[in-house]
Amino acid sequence: MNIQVIEGPNLNLLGHREPEIYGKDTLEELHAWMQNQEYSRPCVFRFFQSNSEGALIDAIQQCVPWARGLVINPAAYTHTSYAIRDAIAAIGIPAVEVHLSDIHRREPFRAQSVIVPVCVGQVYGKGKESYREGVEILLAL
Ligand code: DQA
Repeated sequence: MNIQVIEGPNLNLLGHREPEIYGKDTLEELHAWMQNQEYSRPCVFRFFQSNSEGALIDAIQQCVPWARGLVINPAAYTHTSYAIRDAIAAIGIPAVEVHLSDIHRREPFRAQSVIVPVCVGQVYGKGKESYREGVEILLAL
């Protein structure tokens, strides 16, 4: 299964950014770890990260028809971006929202996702394991 992984703002700083919350792995290390995991079915990943909402929307639109599923960590856009939500709804492939941290046990604004209603699942609070579980949700569909 071809899976597009998309990450939003400030996730390029992983490994340096608040490591007590987000862990010590860099984004490149996280992606390498994902590729080295064993999954219930074979999968091929493409990765994209941007700090810009428009670039994220372009990447969501352009991942089809190659991708059959989307794993997205929209970062702070999780809580605000109806445009990213609309883009996911528009492409018509299943998406899973993932977060490294437990968004339900932090500041109240983080508990609200405007994206999750158009996703088939949400995994949070498990560090990089959130991503692996997100992939498995797609593979099980
Ligand atoms: C995050 C949680 C968001 O609230 C935050 O803005 C991020 C990262 C996470 O992976 O835990 O940038 O999506």
